[in-house]
Amino acid sequence: MVMGRFKQFIAELLGALALILLVHAQDQSDFISIDCGLPENSSYTEWQTGVDYISDAGFIDSGINRQISTEFKGDLQQVWSLRSFPEGIRNCYSIKITQGSKYLIRATFFYGNYDGESKLPVFDVHLGANIWDTIKMTNVSVGFVKELIHVPPLNYIQLCLVNTQRGTPFISAIELRPLPNSTYVTTDGSLEPFWRVDVGSESNLQYRYKYDVYDRIWWPYNYEEWTGLSTSLTIESGSSNAYRPPSVVMSTAATPINDSASLNFNWEPEDATSKYYIYMHFAEVVKLKANQSRSFNVILNGEHWYGPYVPDYLWTSTLYSKYALTSTGGQYAFSLVKTENSTLPPIINAIEIYSVKNLLQSETDQEDVGAITKIKSTYGVKRNWQGDPCAPQAYSWEGLNCSYDGYNAPRVISLNLSSSELTGAISADISTLVMLKYLDLSNNSLTGLVPEFLSQLQYLEVLNLERNQLNGSIPAELIKRSNSGSLLLSVGENSNLCASDPCERKKKKNIVVLILASVVGLLTLSLTIAAILCGLTRRKQQDKTTAVALVDSEPNVQNRPLESIQRQVTYSDLQRITNNFERIIGKGGFGTVYYGCMDGIHVAVKAFSPSSSVQGYQQFQAEVKLLVRVHHKNLTTLVGYCYEGANVGLVYEYMANRDLEAQLSGHNSNILSWQARLRIAIDTAEGLEYLHHGCKPPIIHRDVKTTNILLNEKFNAKLGDFGLSKIFQTDSGTRVNKCCWHPWILGP
Ligand SMILES: *[C@@H]1O[C@H](CO)[C@@H](O)[C@H](O)[C@H]1NC(C)=O
Ligand SMILES: *[C@@H]1O[C@H](CO)[C@@H](O)[C@H](O)[C@H]1NC(C)=O
Ligand SMILES: *[C@@H]1O[C@H](CO)[C@@H](O)[C@H](O)[C@H]1NC(C)=O
Ligand SMILES: *[C@@H]1O[C@H](CO)[C@@H](O)[C@H](O)[C@H]1NC(C)=O
Ligand SMILES: *[C@@H]1O[C@H](CO)[C@@H](O)[C@H](O)[C@H]1NC(C)=O
Ligand SMILES: *[C@@H]1O[C@H](CO)[C@@H](O)[C@H](O)[C@H]1NC(C)=O
Ligand SMILES: *[C@@H]1O[C@H](CO)[C@@H](O)[C@H](O)[C@H]1NC(C)=O
Ligand SMILES: *[C@@H]1O[C@H](CO)[C@@H](O)[C@H](O)[C@H]1NC(C)=O
Ligand SMILES: *[C@@H]1O[C@H](CO)[C@@H](O)[C@H](O)[C@H]1NC(C)=O
Ligand SMILES: *[C@@H]1O[C@H](CO)[C@@H](O)[C@H](O)[C@H]1NC(C)=O
Repeated sequence: MVMGRFKQFIAELLGALALILLVHAQDQSDFISIDCGLPENSSYTEWQTGVDYISDAGFIDSGINRQISTEFKGDLQQVWSLRSFPEGIRNCYSIKITQGSKYLIRATFFYGNYDGESKLPVFDVHLGANIWDTIKMTNVSVGFVKELIHVPPLNYIQLCLVNTQRGTPFISAIELRPLPNSTYVTTDGSLEPFWRVDVGSESNLQYRYKYDVYDRIWWPYNYEEWTGLSTSLTIESGSSNAYRPPSVVMSTAATPINDSASLNFNWEPEDATSKYYIYMHFAEVVKLKANQSRSFNVILNGEHWYGPYVPDYLWTSTLYSKYALTSTGGQYAFSLVKTENSTLPPIINAIEIYSVKNLLQSETDQEDVGAITKIKSTYGVKRNWQGDPCAPQAYSWEGLNCSYDGYNAPRVISLNLSSSELTGAISADISTLVMLKYLDLSNNSLTGLVPEFLSQLQYLEVLNLERNQLNGSIPAELIKRSNSGSLLLSVGENSNLCASDPCERKKKKNIVVLILASVVGLLTLSLTIAAILCGLTRRKQQDKTTAVALVDSEPNVQNRPLESIQRQVTYSDLQRITNNFERIIGKGGFGTVYYGCMDGIHVAVKAFSPSSSVQGYQQFQAEVKLLVRVHHKNLTTLVGYCYEGANVGLVYEYMANRDLEAQLSGHNSNILSWQARLRIAIDTAEGLEYLHHGCKPPIIHRDVKTTNILLNEKFNAKLGDFGLSKIFQTDSGTRVNKCCWHPWILGP
């Protein structure tokens, strides 16, 4: 005889179920029995099996509850209701289990024309990161069962119904039954039932719980060349046989009608790569007389496989292979052949055959899953984010991209939550996604600070925080990476966000080494600096005897982002940037200087007093365009300008330590060190030298003075107001290029 496939037997599952002879009442406390589509919080006991079913509401948050059409309602209550999934590609149940434990997982589908359309759907089922199978409903009144013996890798399983454009997915029931570790052991993969039969059945009933402690379903099976044997006595399973087939199944057996013939069964593999495991259960059901014996050998494809074997009276023994079977000629043919001295033909009581199902793809890295799941709940993400975030690859969550490395756990490498109506702070869970390269949170309503933890994402290449309501300052590390070109940072249109003061948060990396060899050296040095300040020395003409080494390994972190945003702004922009000219940070000949914040970066806005007469627009623009091209670490950077009638303003980079005058004035408790003064002198000189020799045409400052030597947070000096005398005719008139040696620099 040739065996049919297990799941084709299912019609009968929905017909007659074994009735009640509760031989061994077994504990079902570790069963998980979920009736899909049952109203929330409700439960019942299936009257035929005594199994308690609960609603699926606690395991899923999508789909709708439906009832099968009354005409199809039979005895099996678990298929009366179902959950269907008209929305979303993939909808998933998430069920907590015991990690490392082996389970018999069963999913039941019974269409029962629940939608009145009499259209049989076809859809896929995923188990975790793997595609389990395609469910093809073939008959409105015939159910379909999928089973798998599987050790789930995590402490939960995700069972997903997947729409493949061939009808609406649905599911009727999900059952999980723990199995002992020692049963159904394979060297390769999980097991799908192919055949599980109660041979020689006299009742023609299916048996499951409470007959079967593991709630396996046994189908009755008889074959025309076989005859039945049975006993009314109980068949025991020893504690060493963990398979424990039910006594009611073992108490009937089959034997060949022709008692000199062998007992044969065979099947053909579903495809060339299919692998099978077999479990044969034997127990002698006949009390043998003294002159009787039953012994047989088991032959597979003509070769001796096991034996001779003598079944024990009323005692179950299970014969199985530790490895997958090997076939010859594309077929598996078993024969039980009695031995020569055996007076009785072979018997068999029950047979299980499983095919190997490889679920190789690992679930996404669990840290990543935990983080993204928390992010989903923190923000109430409205996308159809269900099941494993990255796998199967074709079904990864919208807005996520992952890296895949064979079957290893995928990692989340990009997260795009742009325009997702996110509110609140930037979630710390994002920092758990340590492999992130791309993070887009733009166009949301995120508030609060740009968190420091974003700088811990060491692989981050793109960070887009545009169009939110973030405030405070941007972590220095992010700015540094942006400046060095390793991070594409976008923070625009966050009106209260400012680039931080990069040095405040960082340990000082600048090392200023100053070696003064002698008094003579010191004097030479003073003279040299004075000379530099007057612009008289040439490049690299430094006297070696000065022995001054200034080591500045710090990249110029401010310039880069500023350069990129140089532009013309409107007067109302200036008002916004300065918060309506709220904070004065200086006053000069040309006007007043205000604190401002532009595109997330601190700036200083020079607003010109109407009394300073400005040139015509064309000329102003030409000059300004020239000035915005001047870049040197010792010159303040012009980042924007405004020219609207009488409203003229320039936007400069912000200098945290104001100007040299302020530092040297008696009001300041901070006394500049000798090194700092030296450095300021050299910085100033280098700025001037650049104006004179680096710019074409050269720019003559004409107003070098302590209030125009500006100091940043590191006390690096930058010259301000250069080039302005050309733009404005000031009250003090045109200045001459006078010697600018200032003894205070080397003071005190
Ligand atoms: C189900 O039970 C929970 C907890 O007792 C309760 O909060 C919830 O409202 C109940 N749901 C329904 C639909 O009764
Ligand atoms: C089954 O085996 C797994 C791993 O081998 C182990 O973690 C688990 O604790 C075992 N379960 C039982 C019930 O022995
Ligand atoms: C569906 O199954 C029922 C019961 O098994 C059977 O009577 C009926 O003929 C089947 N219908 C089709 C279209 O196969
Ligand atoms: C019984 O089986 C034997 C061995 O296969 C065979 O030789 C014999 O013809 C069979 N008898 C009948 C009646 O089929
Ligand atoms: C076995 O012994 C019984 C009597 O106990 C007898 O009727 C039967 O013929 C014997 N069978 C054989 C095969 O010897
Ligand atoms: C029958 O023969 C087998 C060898 O084929 C032997 O192992 C076994 O002990 C014998 N049984 C009896 C009852 O003689
Ligand atoms: C990020 O998502 C937004 C909105 O869904 C989309 O417009 C944009 O193209 C996405 N970016 C990338 C790189 O996929
Ligand atoms: C994800 O990868 C796809 C295909 O490579 C690409 O089109 C998409 O922009 C990526 N999305 C993100 C957010 O990186
Ligand atoms: C920003 O998000 C809103 C929805 O929150 C959307 O309507 C709008 O088109 C998005 N704008 C851009 C530029 O993506
Ligand atoms: C940033 O905004 C939050 C509220 O969104 C506020 O509590 C906090 O004080 C603000 N911080 C700064 C520095 O403005």
